[in-house]
Amino acid sequence: MDAAAEPTGPCLWRVLKVVQHNDFLPILNNSEAKKKNTMDNSHYVKWFRHSSPYINAHRDKTFVLMLEGDAIAHENFSHIVQDIALLNSLGVRLVLVHGARPQIDQALNVLNIQSQFHRDLRITDQDALNAVQAAIGIVKSDIEARLSIGLPNTPMHGARIRVVSGNFVTAKPLGVIDGVDFQHTGEVRRIDRKAIRQQLDQRNIVLLSSCGYSPSGEMFNLSAEDVATQAAISLEAEKVILLGAESGLLNSDGELIGQISSSDLVESIRDFSGEQRLHAEAALSAVNNGVNRAHMLSHKEDGALLQELFTHEGAGTLITQGDYEHLRDANIDDVGGILEILSPLEEEGILVRRSREVLETEINRFKVIERDGIIIACAALYPYSADMGELACVAVSQEYRSGNRGDRLLDAISEQATQEGLNKVFVLTTRTAHWFKERGFADADISSLPEERQSLYNFQRNSKVFIKELN
Ligand SMILES: CC(C)(COP(=O)(O)OP(=O)(O)OC[C@H]1O[C@@H](n2cnc3c(N)ncnc32)[C@H](O)[C@@H]1OP(=O)(O)O)[C@@H](O)C(=O)NCCC(=O)NCCS
Repeated sequence: MDAAAEPTGPCLWRVLKVVQHNDFLPILNNSEAKKKNTMDNSHYVKWFRHSSPYINAHRDKTFVLMLEGDAIAHENFSHIVQDIALLNSLGVRLVLVHGARPQIDQALNVLNIQSQFHRDLRITDQDALNAVQAAIGIVKSDIEARLSIGLPNTPMHGARIRVVSGNFVTAKPLGVIDGVDFQHTGEVRRIDRKAIRQQLDQRNIVLLSSCGYSPSGEMFNLSAEDVATQAAISLEAEKVILLGAESGLLNSDGELIGQISSSDLVESIRDFSGEQRLHAEAALSAVNNGVNRAHMLSHKEDGALLQELFTHEGAGTLITQGDYEHLRDANIDDVGGILEILSPLEEEGILVRRSREVLETEINRFKVIERDGIIIACAALYPYSADMGELACVAVSQEYRSGNRGDRLLDAISEQATQEGLNKVFVLTTRTAHWFKERGFADADISSLPEERQSLYNFQRNSKVFIKELN
Protein backbone atom coordinates (compact mmCIF):
# COMPACT_ATOMS: atom_id res chain seq x y z
CA MET A 1 0.00 0.00 0.00
CA ASP A 2 1.07 3.55 -0.66
CA ALA A 3 2.43 4.75 2.66
CA ALA A 4 1.12 8.25 1.97
CA ALA A 5 -2.44 6.93 1.59
CA GLU A 6 -2.24 4.96 4.79
CA PRO A 7 -3.05 7.16 7.81
CA THR A 8 -1.10 5.09 10.29
CA GLY A 9 1.78 4.51 7.85
CA PRO A 10 4.44 6.46 9.74
CA CYS A 11 3.43 4.85 13.03
CA LEU A 12 3.56 1.34 11.62
CA TRP A 13 7.00 1.94 10.15
CA ARG A 14 8.34 2.98 13.48
CA VAL A 15 6.66 0.15 15.38
CA LEU A 16 7.99 -2.38 12.90
CA LYS A 17 11.46 -1.00 13.17
CA VAL A 18 11.48 -1.28 16.94
CA VAL A 19 9.95 -4.77 16.85
CA GLN A 20 12.27 -6.13 14.21
CA HIS A 21 15.39 -4.31 15.35
CA ASN A 22 16.46 -3.92 11.77
CA ASP A 23 15.88 -1.56 8.88
CA PHE A 24 12.40 -1.77 7.47
CA LEU A 25 12.99 -0.02 4.16
CA PRO A 26 15.47 -2.57 2.73
CA ILE A 27 13.00 -5.29 3.67
CA LEU A 28 10.36 -3.81 1.40
CA ASN A 29 12.72 -3.49 -1.55
CA ASN A 30 14.16 -6.96 -1.60
CA SER A 31 12.25 -10.14 -2.46
CA GLU A 32 14.30 -12.45 -0.25
CA ALA A 33 13.84 -10.12 2.63
CA LYS A 34 10.11 -10.05 1.81
CA LYS A 35 9.91 -13.74 2.74
CA LYS A 36 11.63 -12.99 6.01
CA ASN A 37 9.25 -10.10 6.42
CA THR A 38 6.24 -12.45 6.21
CA MET A 39 7.69 -14.43 9.10
CA ASP A 40 8.54 -11.32 11.06
CA ASN A 41 5.08 -9.96 10.37
CA SER A 42 3.45 -12.58 12.58
CA HIS A 43 5.69 -11.35 15.39
CA TYR A 44 4.73 -7.80 14.55
CA VAL A 45 0.99 -8.59 14.39
CA LYS A 46 1.22 -10.25 17.83
CA TRP A 47 3.15 -7.31 19.25
CA PHE A 48 0.72 -4.83 17.77
CA ARG A 49 -2.29 -6.68 19.21
CA HIS A 50 -0.64 -6.83 22.62
CA SER A 51 -0.02 -3.12 22.50
CA SER A 52 -3.66 -2.20 21.71
CA PRO A 53 -4.77 -2.02 25.39
CA TYR A 54 -1.94 0.44 25.96
CA ILE A 55 -2.91 2.47 22.90
CA ASN A 56 -6.46 2.75 24.27
CA ALA A 57 -5.23 3.55 27.77
CA HIS A 58 -2.87 6.33 26.61
CA ARG A 59 -5.26 8.06 24.18
CA ASP A 60 -6.21 11.60 25.34
CA LYS A 61 -3.90 11.35 28.36
CA THR A 62 -1.36 14.08 29.07
CA PHE A 63 2.29 13.01 29.18
CA VAL A 64 5.11 15.39 30.08
CA LEU A 65 8.36 14.22 28.49
CA MET A 66 11.64 15.73 29.69
CA LEU A 67 14.76 15.64 27.55
CA GLU A 68 18.02 17.03 28.82
CA GLY A 69 20.42 18.75 26.45
CA ASP A 70 22.58 15.62 26.08
CA ALA A 71 19.53 13.64 24.90
CA ILE A 72 19.06 16.16 22.11
CA ALA A 73 22.75 15.99 21.16
CA HIS A 74 22.71 12.15 21.12
CA GLU A 75 22.45 10.20 17.85
CA ASN A 76 19.37 8.36 19.17
CA PHE A 77 17.46 11.64 19.29
CA SER A 78 16.20 11.14 15.72
CA HIS A 79 14.49 7.93 16.93
CA ILE A 80 13.03 9.72 19.95
CA VAL A 81 11.59 12.34 17.61
CA GLN A 82 9.93 9.58 15.58
CA ASP A 83 8.48 8.10 18.77
CA ILE A 84 7.17 11.50 19.79
CA ALA A 85 5.48 11.73 16.36
CA LEU A 86 3.98 8.29 16.91
CA LEU A 87 2.61 9.20 20.35
CA ASN A 88 1.12 12.36 18.87
CA SER A 89 -0.54 10.31 16.11
CA LEU A 90 -1.98 7.95 18.72
CA GLY A 91 -3.77 10.82 20.47
CA VAL A 92 -1.42 11.33 23.43
CA ARG A 93 -1.41 14.96 24.65
CA LEU A 94 2.29 15.76 24.76
CA VAL A 95 4.25 18.41 26.57
CA LEU A 96 7.98 18.32 25.84
CA VAL A 97 10.36 19.97 28.25
CA HIS A 98 13.93 20.44 27.12
CA GLY A 99 17.04 21.36 28.99
CA ALA A 100 20.30 22.60 27.49
CA ARG A 101 23.02 21.92 30.11
CA PRO A 102 25.83 20.75 27.78
CA GLN A 103 24.90 23.36 25.17
CA ILE A 104 25.05 26.11 27.84
CA ASP A 105 28.47 24.82 28.97
CA GLN A 106 29.65 24.95 25.35
CA ALA A 107 28.34 28.49 24.86
CA LEU A 108 30.04 29.62 28.08
CA ASN A 109 33.31 28.03 26.94
CA VAL A 110 33.15 29.86 23.64
CA LEU A 111 32.55 33.14 25.48
CA ASN A 112 35.32 32.21 27.90
CA ILE A 113 33.02 32.55 30.89
CA GLN A 114 33.76 30.48 33.96
CA SER A 115 30.47 29.39 35.60
CA GLN A 116 30.16 29.63 39.37
CA PHE A 117 28.26 26.90 41.20
CA HIS A 118 26.84 26.73 44.69
CA ARG A 119 25.07 23.60 46.04
CA ASP A 120 25.50 22.07 42.56
CA LEU A 121 23.44 24.90 41.05
CA ARG A 122 24.76 27.30 38.43
CA ILE A 123 24.83 30.96 39.40
CA THR A 124 23.54 32.74 36.32
CA ASP A 125 24.94 36.26 36.11
CA GLN A 126 24.14 38.63 33.23
CA ASP A 127 26.98 37.30 30.99
CA ALA A 128 26.02 33.70 31.68
CA LEU A 129 22.38 34.56 30.95
CA ASN A 130 23.35 35.64 27.42
CA ALA A 131 24.96 32.21 26.89
CA VAL A 132 21.87 30.48 28.38
CA GLN A 133 19.59 32.45 26.07
CA ALA A 134 21.67 31.56 23.00
CA ALA A 135 21.96 27.86 23.90
CA ILE A 136 18.27 27.44 24.72
CA GLY A 137 17.28 29.23 21.51
CA ILE A 138 19.45 26.90 19.42
CA VAL A 139 18.21 23.74 21.13
CA LYS A 140 14.58 24.85 20.87
CA SER A 141 14.79 25.55 17.15
CA ASP A 142 16.68 22.28 16.62
CA ILE A 143 13.79 20.35 18.23
CA GLU A 144 11.20 22.27 16.21
CA ALA A 145 13.09 21.58 13.00
CA ARG A 146 13.42 17.85 13.75
CA LEU A 147 9.70 17.59 14.51
CA SER A 148 8.95 19.25 11.18
CA ILE A 149 10.63 16.60 9.06
CA GLY A 150 8.06 15.07 6.76
CA LEU A 151 10.05 13.77 3.81
CA PRO A 152 8.67 10.77 1.92
CA ASN A 153 10.40 7.52 2.86
CA THR A 154 10.92 8.64 6.43
CA PRO A 155 8.86 7.43 9.39
CA MET A 156 7.72 11.03 9.89
CA HIS A 157 6.07 11.21 6.45
CA GLY A 158 2.51 12.53 6.80
CA ALA A 159 2.82 13.10 10.55
CA ARG A 160 2.18 16.89 10.25
CA ILE A 161 3.14 17.81 13.78
CA ARG A 162 2.48 21.29 15.13
CA VAL A 163 4.79 22.40 17.91
CA VAL A 164 3.87 25.39 20.00
CA SER A 165 6.00 27.26 22.51
CA GLY A 166 5.58 30.57 24.33
CA ASN A 167 5.64 32.29 27.68
CA PHE A 168 3.86 29.45 29.47
CA VAL A 169 6.27 29.33 32.43
CA THR A 170 6.40 32.15 34.95
CA ALA A 171 9.61 32.15 36.98
CA LYS A 172 10.91 33.74 40.14
CA PRO A 173 14.50 34.22 41.29
CA LEU A 174 16.01 31.56 43.52
CA GLY A 175 17.32 34.50 45.53
CA VAL A 176 20.12 34.48 48.06
CA ILE A 177 21.06 31.14 49.66
CA ASP A 178 23.87 30.84 52.24
CA GLY A 179 24.68 34.45 51.42
CA VAL A 180 25.14 33.60 47.71
CA ASP A 181 23.01 35.51 45.21
CA PHE A 182 21.94 33.18 42.41
CA GLN A 183 20.98 36.19 40.23
CA HIS A 184 19.25 34.85 37.07
CA THR A 185 18.99 31.29 38.30
CA GLY A 186 15.34 30.80 39.12
CA GLU A 187 12.55 28.39 39.88
CA VAL A 188 9.07 27.86 38.49
CA ARG A 189 6.48 30.17 40.00
CA ARG A 190 3.47 29.27 37.86
CA ILE A 191 2.52 27.25 34.79
CA ASP A 192 -0.08 28.69 32.42
CA ARG A 193 -2.21 25.58 32.57
CA LYS A 194 -5.16 27.06 30.69
CA ALA A 195 -3.06 28.18 27.71
CA ILE A 196 -1.22 24.85 27.53
CA ARG A 197 -4.47 22.89 27.69
CA GLN A 198 -5.91 24.97 24.87
CA GLN A 199 -2.94 23.98 22.71
CA LEU A 200 -3.19 20.32 23.69
CA ASP A 201 -6.93 20.36 22.88
CA GLN A 202 -5.93 21.30 19.34
CA ARG A 203 -3.55 18.32 19.24
CA ASN A 204 -0.51 20.58 19.22
CA ILE A 205 2.65 19.47 21.00
CA VAL A 206 3.68 22.04 23.59
CA LEU A 207 7.41 22.67 23.89
CA LEU A 208 8.69 24.20 27.14
CA SER A 209 12.28 25.30 27.64
CA SER A 210 14.28 25.37 30.83
CA CYS A 211 13.72 29.09 31.18
CA GLY A 212 10.92 31.30 32.38
CA TYR A 213 9.97 34.94 32.62
CA SER A 214 9.01 37.01 35.63
CA PRO A 215 6.13 39.50 35.62
CA SER A 216 8.82 42.22 35.69
CA GLY A 217 10.05 40.97 32.30
CA GLU A 218 13.26 39.30 33.45
CA MET A 219 14.39 35.93 32.14
CA PHE A 220 15.46 33.14 34.51
CA ASN A 221 17.51 30.01 33.97
CA LEU A 222 15.54 27.05 35.35
CA SER A 223 16.23 23.37 35.71
CA ALA A 224 14.42 21.20 33.17
CA GLU A 225 13.41 18.86 36.04
CA ASP A 226 11.67 21.74 37.82
CA VAL A 227 9.79 22.78 34.66
CA ALA A 228 8.79 19.18 33.86
CA THR A 229 7.55 18.39 37.37
CA GLN A 230 5.65 21.63 37.82
CA ALA A 231 4.09 21.31 34.37
CA ALA A 232 3.02 17.71 35.07
CA ILE A 233 1.53 18.65 38.45
CA SER A 234 -0.23 21.73 37.16
CA LEU A 235 -1.66 19.91 34.12
CA GLU A 236 -2.66 16.91 36.27
CA ALA A 237 -0.71 14.80 33.79
CA GLU A 238 -1.03 11.04 33.70
CA LYS A 239 2.72 10.62 33.40
CA VAL A 240 5.98 12.47 33.61
CA ILE A 241 8.76 10.74 31.66
CA LEU A 242 12.34 11.68 32.42
CA LEU A 243 14.96 10.67 29.87
CA GLY A 244 18.48 10.27 31.20
CA ALA A 245 21.83 8.64 30.51
CA GLU A 246 21.00 5.37 32.33
CA SER A 247 18.24 2.84 31.56
CA GLY A 248 16.43 4.00 34.69
CA LEU A 249 17.17 3.76 38.39
CA LEU A 250 19.98 1.29 39.03
CA ASN A 251 20.49 -0.51 42.34
CA SER A 252 23.86 -0.87 44.06
CA ASP A 253 24.66 -3.90 41.81
CA GLY A 254 24.00 -1.81 38.74
CA GLU A 255 20.76 -3.67 38.00
CA LEU A 256 17.72 -1.86 36.68
CA ILE A 257 14.88 -1.34 39.17
CA GLY A 258 11.78 -2.07 37.06
CA GLN A 259 9.31 -0.37 39.36
CA ILE A 260 9.29 1.22 42.76
CA SER A 261 6.58 2.87 44.83
CA SER A 262 7.03 6.46 45.96
CA SER A 263 7.21 5.34 49.61
CA ASP A 264 10.04 2.86 48.87
CA LEU A 265 11.84 5.51 46.82
CA VAL A 266 11.69 7.97 49.71
CA GLU A 267 13.43 5.34 51.86
CA SER A 268 16.19 4.70 49.32
CA ILE A 269 16.66 8.14 47.73
CA ARG A 270 20.01 8.66 49.49
CA ASP A 271 21.41 5.64 47.63
CA PHE A 272 21.37 7.57 44.36
CA SER A 273 23.56 10.38 43.15
CA GLY A 274 24.08 12.66 40.16
CA GLU A 275 21.47 12.65 37.42
CA GLN A 276 19.73 9.58 38.89
CA ARG A 277 19.18 11.44 42.16
CA LEU A 278 17.93 14.56 40.35
CA HIS A 279 15.49 12.55 38.27
CA ALA A 280 14.36 10.43 41.22
CA GLU A 281 13.63 13.58 43.23
CA ALA A 282 11.69 15.07 40.32
CA ALA A 283 9.73 11.83 39.92
CA LEU A 284 8.91 11.76 43.63
CA SER A 285 7.80 15.35 43.64
CA ALA A 286 5.48 14.63 40.68
CA VAL A 287 3.86 11.46 42.05
CA ASN A 288 3.54 12.93 45.54
CA ASN A 289 1.60 15.81 44.02
CA GLY A 290 -0.99 13.93 42.02
CA VAL A 291 0.80 12.74 38.87
CA ASN A 292 -0.13 9.07 38.49
CA ARG A 293 3.18 7.71 37.24
CA ALA A 294 6.73 8.82 36.67
CA HIS A 295 9.09 6.93 34.37
CA MET A 296 12.87 7.11 34.19
CA LEU A 297 14.27 5.92 30.87
CA SER A 298 17.41 6.01 28.78
CA HIS A 299 17.71 8.56 26.01
CA LYS A 300 20.39 6.36 24.41
CA GLU A 301 18.39 3.15 23.89
CA ASP A 302 16.49 2.99 20.63
CA GLY A 303 12.82 2.22 21.29
CA ALA A 304 13.02 2.56 25.11
CA LEU A 305 10.10 5.02 25.12
CA LEU A 306 7.85 2.71 23.06
CA GLN A 307 8.80 -0.35 25.07
CA GLU A 308 8.07 1.45 28.33
CA LEU A 309 4.69 2.68 27.17
CA PHE A 310 3.44 -0.25 25.09
CA THR A 311 4.78 -3.43 26.70
CA HIS A 312 4.13 -4.82 30.13
CA GLU A 313 7.86 -5.48 30.76
CA GLY A 314 8.75 -1.84 30.06
CA ALA A 315 12.31 -0.64 29.53
CA GLY A 316 13.07 1.63 32.45
CA THR A 317 11.92 2.41 35.99
CA LEU A 318 8.29 3.10 36.83
CA ILE A 319 7.67 5.15 39.96
CA THR A 320 4.13 4.77 41.24
CA GLN A 321 1.98 6.56 43.76
CA GLY A 322 1.78 3.50 45.94
CA ASP A 323 -0.79 0.91 45.07
CA TYR A 324 -0.33 0.47 41.38
CA GLU A 325 -2.61 -2.52 40.91
CA HIS A 326 -6.04 -2.62 42.45
CA LEU A 327 -9.25 -4.58 42.37
CA ARG A 328 -12.45 -2.56 42.07
CA ASP A 329 -16.00 -2.49 40.73
CA ALA A 330 -16.08 -2.02 36.97
CA ASN A 331 -17.57 1.04 35.30
CA ILE A 332 -18.64 1.83 31.75
CA ASP A 333 -15.13 3.02 30.79
CA ASP A 334 -13.83 -0.50 31.45
CA VAL A 335 -15.92 -2.18 28.74
CA GLY A 336 -13.16 -1.87 26.12
CA GLY A 337 -10.56 -3.30 28.51
CA ILE A 338 -12.81 -6.23 29.49
CA LEU A 339 -13.49 -6.99 25.83
CA GLU A 340 -9.72 -7.12 25.19
CA ILE A 341 -9.43 -9.87 27.79
CA LEU A 342 -12.58 -11.82 26.91
CA SER A 343 -12.44 -11.76 23.09
CA PRO A 344 -9.47 -14.15 22.62
CA LEU A 345 -10.99 -16.55 25.16
CA GLU A 346 -14.34 -16.37 23.35
CA GLU A 347 -12.60 -17.12 20.06
CA GLU A 348 -11.02 -20.20 21.65
CA GLY A 349 -14.44 -21.29 22.90
CA ILE A 350 -13.35 -21.07 26.56
CA LEU A 351 -15.92 -18.39 27.32
CA VAL A 352 -19.39 -17.72 25.90
CA ARG A 353 -19.49 -14.75 23.55
CA ARG A 354 -20.82 -11.46 24.96
CA SER A 355 -21.36 -8.42 22.78
CA ARG A 356 -20.22 -4.93 23.72
CA GLU A 357 -23.89 -3.95 24.17
CA VAL A 358 -24.50 -6.80 26.63
CA LEU A 359 -21.33 -5.88 28.53
CA GLU A 360 -22.39 -2.25 28.66
CA THR A 361 -25.76 -3.10 30.21
CA GLU A 362 -24.26 -5.64 32.60
CA ILE A 363 -21.13 -3.74 33.56
CA ASN A 364 -22.28 -3.22 37.17
CA ARG A 365 -22.03 -7.00 37.69
CA PHE A 366 -18.28 -6.95 36.95
CA LYS A 367 -15.20 -6.50 39.08
CA VAL A 368 -11.86 -5.74 37.47
CA ILE A 369 -8.20 -5.60 38.38
CA GLU A 370 -6.58 -2.48 37.00
CA ARG A 371 -2.83 -2.19 36.68
CA ASP A 372 -1.11 0.96 35.50
CA GLY A 373 -4.40 2.14 33.98
CA ILE A 374 -5.00 -1.12 32.09
CA ILE A 375 -7.65 -3.72 32.86
CA ILE A 376 -5.82 -7.02 33.32
CA ALA A 377 -8.47 -9.28 34.89
CA CYS A 378 -12.22 -9.48 35.39
CA ALA A 379 -15.02 -11.55 36.85
CA ALA A 380 -18.79 -11.12 37.14
CA LEU A 381 -21.58 -12.20 39.46
CA TYR A 382 -25.10 -12.81 38.15
CA PRO A 383 -27.63 -13.41 40.95
CA TYR A 384 -30.27 -15.95 39.84
CA SER A 385 -32.46 -17.34 42.56
CA ALA A 386 -32.89 -16.07 46.10
CA ASP A 387 -29.79 -17.87 47.32
CA MET A 388 -27.70 -18.61 44.20
CA GLY A 389 -25.53 -16.59 41.87
CA GLU A 390 -23.43 -17.41 38.82
CA LEU A 391 -19.76 -16.65 38.74
CA ALA A 392 -18.95 -15.78 35.11
CA CYS A 393 -16.28 -14.25 32.89
CA VAL A 394 -13.44 -15.09 35.27
CA ALA A 395 -10.40 -14.22 33.20
CA VAL A 396 -6.90 -12.94 33.68
CA SER A 397 -4.90 -11.45 30.84
CA GLN A 398 -2.42 -14.06 29.54
CA GLU A 399 0.75 -12.27 30.65
CA TYR A 400 -0.53 -11.74 34.20
CA ARG A 401 -1.60 -15.31 34.99
CA SER A 402 -0.40 -17.32 38.00
CA GLY A 403 -0.15 -14.26 40.20
CA ASN A 404 -3.13 -15.11 42.42
CA ARG A 405 -5.32 -12.65 40.60
CA GLY A 406 -7.89 -15.35 39.87
CA ASP A 407 -8.01 -16.06 43.62
CA ARG A 408 -8.39 -12.38 44.49
CA LEU A 409 -11.29 -12.05 42.07
CA LEU A 410 -12.92 -15.18 43.41
CA ASP A 411 -12.64 -13.84 46.99
CA ALA A 412 -14.10 -10.48 45.96
CA ILE A 413 -17.01 -12.08 44.07
CA SER A 414 -17.71 -14.45 47.00
CA GLU A 415 -17.77 -11.50 49.38
CA GLN A 416 -20.10 -9.62 47.05
CA ALA A 417 -22.39 -12.68 46.84
CA THR A 418 -22.52 -12.94 50.64
CA GLN A 419 -23.35 -9.24 50.90
CA GLU A 420 -26.22 -9.78 48.44
CA GLY A 421 -27.60 -12.54 50.67
CA LEU A 422 -26.57 -15.46 48.43
CA ASN A 423 -25.18 -18.60 50.00
CA LYS A 424 -24.01 -20.48 46.90
CA VAL A 425 -22.21 -19.58 43.70
CA PHE A 426 -22.08 -21.80 40.66
CA VAL A 427 -19.92 -21.79 37.59
CA LEU A 428 -20.20 -23.44 34.18
CA THR A 429 -16.90 -24.35 32.65
CA THR A 430 -15.51 -26.43 29.80
CA ARG A 431 -11.75 -26.19 30.38
CA THR A 432 -11.10 -24.86 33.87
CA ALA A 433 -12.78 -27.48 36.04
CA HIS A 434 -9.74 -28.24 38.16
CA TRP A 435 -9.01 -24.64 38.94
CA PHE A 436 -12.48 -24.31 40.48
CA LYS A 437 -12.33 -27.73 42.19
CA GLU A 438 -9.07 -26.76 43.88
CA ARG A 439 -10.88 -23.73 45.25
CA GLY A 440 -13.72 -25.57 46.95
CA PHE A 441 -16.19 -25.94 44.08
CA ALA A 442 -17.95 -29.32 43.91
CA ASP A 443 -19.29 -31.21 40.87
CA ALA A 444 -23.01 -30.70 40.43
CA ASP A 445 -25.79 -31.64 38.08
CA ILE A 446 -27.57 -29.28 35.71
CA SER A 447 -30.73 -29.94 37.69
CA SER A 448 -29.20 -28.23 40.72
CA LEU A 449 -29.02 -24.92 38.83
CA PRO A 450 -31.80 -22.37 39.29
CA GLU A 451 -34.60 -23.14 36.81
CA GLU A 452 -34.12 -19.93 34.90
CA ARG A 453 -30.47 -20.87 34.31
CA GLN A 454 -31.30 -24.48 33.39
CA SER A 455 -33.44 -23.21 30.52
CA LEU A 456 -30.45 -21.26 29.18
CA TYR A 457 -28.06 -24.23 29.42
CA ASN A 458 -26.31 -24.84 26.10
CA PHE A 459 -26.14 -28.62 25.59
CA GLN A 460 -23.81 -28.21 22.62
CA ARG A 461 -21.19 -26.56 24.85
CA ASN A 462 -21.70 -29.34 27.39
CA SER A 463 -20.15 -27.28 30.20
CA LYS A 464 -19.53 -28.88 33.55
CA VAL A 465 -21.37 -27.42 36.52
CA PHE A 466 -19.69 -26.65 39.84
CA ILE A 467 -21.20 -25.19 42.96
CA LYS A 468 -19.54 -23.66 46.00
CA GLU A 469 -21.23 -23.11 49.35
CA LEU A 470 -20.38 -19.75 50.85
CA ASN A 471 -19.77 -19.58 54.58
C1 LIG B 1 -8.34 -19.57 35.39
C2 LIG B 1 -7.69 -18.22 35.57
C3 LIG B 1 -8.75 -17.18 35.78
C4 LIG B 1 -6.77 -18.27 36.80
O1 LIG B 1 -6.23 -17.00 37.04
P1 LIG B 1 -4.75 -16.83 37.66
O2 LIG B 1 -4.63 -15.45 38.18
O3 LIG B 1 -3.74 -17.29 36.68
O4 LIG B 1 -4.87 -17.85 38.84
P2 LIG B 1 -4.10 -18.00 40.14
O5 LIG B 1 -2.77 -17.32 40.13
O6 LIG B 1 -5.05 -17.66 41.23
O7 LIG B 1 -3.85 -19.57 40.07
C5 LIG B 1 -2.89 -20.10 39.23
C6 LIG B 1 -2.95 -21.61 39.29
O8 LIG B 1 -4.09 -22.06 38.55
C7 LIG B 1 -3.67 -23.05 37.62
N1 LIG B 1 -4.54 -23.03 36.45
C8 LIG B 1 -4.66 -22.08 35.53
N2 LIG B 1 -5.56 -22.47 34.60
C9 LIG B 1 -6.00 -23.68 34.96
C10 LIG B 1 -6.91 -24.60 34.38
N3 LIG B 1 -7.57 -24.35 33.26
N4 LIG B 1 -7.14 -25.76 35.05
C11 LIG B 1 -6.49 -26.04 36.18
N5 LIG B 1 -5.60 -25.22 36.77
C12 LIG B 1 -5.35 -24.05 36.16
C13 LIG B 1 -2.26 -22.65 37.28
O9 LIG B 1 -1.54 -23.74 36.74
C14 LIG B 1 -1.73 -22.23 38.64
O10 LIG B 1 -1.46 -23.36 39.41
P3 LIG B 1 0.01 -23.62 39.98
O11 LIG B 1 0.36 -22.38 40.74
O12 LIG B 1 -0.17 -24.83 40.82
O13 LIG B 1 0.83 -23.83 38.78
C15 LIG B 1 -6.80 -17.86 34.37
O14 LIG B 1 -5.91 -18.92 34.13
C16 LIG B 1 -7.57 -17.57 33.11
O15 LIG B 1 -7.92 -16.44 32.84
N6 LIG B 1 -7.83 -18.60 32.29
C17 LIG B 1 -8.54 -18.44 31.05
C18 LIG B 1 -10.00 -18.12 31.27
C19 LIG B 1 -10.73 -19.20 32.00
O16 LIG B 1 -10.51 -20.39 31.81
N7 LIG B 1 -11.68 -18.76 32.86
C20 LIG B 1 -12.58 -19.61 33.56
C21 LIG B 1 -13.81 -19.64 32.74
S1 LIG B 1 -15.08 -20.52 33.47
